[in-house]
Amino acid sequence: MAILKVARMGHPVLRRLSEPVPMEAISGPEIQTLIDDMVETMREYDGAGLAAPQVHRPLQIVVIEVRRNPRYPSAPDIPLHVFINPTVTPDGGDMEEDFEGCLSLPDLRGRVPRHSKVRVRSFNRAGERQDFEAEGFLARAVQHECDHLQGILFVDRMRDMTTLTYLREYARHVEPNAGRIVPE
Ligand code: NI
Repeated sequence: MAILKVARMGHPVLRRLSEPVPMEAISGPEIQTLIDDMVETMREYDGAGLAAPQVHRPLQIVVIEVRRNPRYPSAPDIPLHVFINPTVTPDGGDMEEDFEGCLSLPDLRGRVPRHSKVRVRSFNRAGERQDFEAEGFLARAVQHECDHLQGILFVDRMRDMTTLTYLREYARHVEPNAGRIVPE
């Protein structure tokens, strides 16, 4: 396993469309190693999720996990999820606004509206179909990560740019009041 370099905002790889992973390639060593490396990289940098284009591989692969994350102290624990070739559709419910961060925009947080419930159809790393409903923090993380596969960053989704905040100022001025936070 290896810790991969994370692309930062401004790198063109973050702005292109990611390609679907061919079904026959999912079980192969190249994709399996990439998934392992993405998980290790996400954990190393305390991300709540990571999309393959963030590690310079424009493929439709997303990993999400939260385990007592110091960057997201109030986030619920979420077991490791791997989504390959995901499609995300809103599943009723309203839009909710909350703060998000991103390993590709280090040090920044901003408020982003997201669907409160989504349905995710994808493949897991064994190549099996998964059909999944997510809400709350996980729904937000799924939408954030799958946006990366379309070349979209969280700042593109913000409605109010005055909420864009450096992490240090966020911890001092925002979190003590808002108390909640969020993805990568
Ligand atoms: Ni991100």
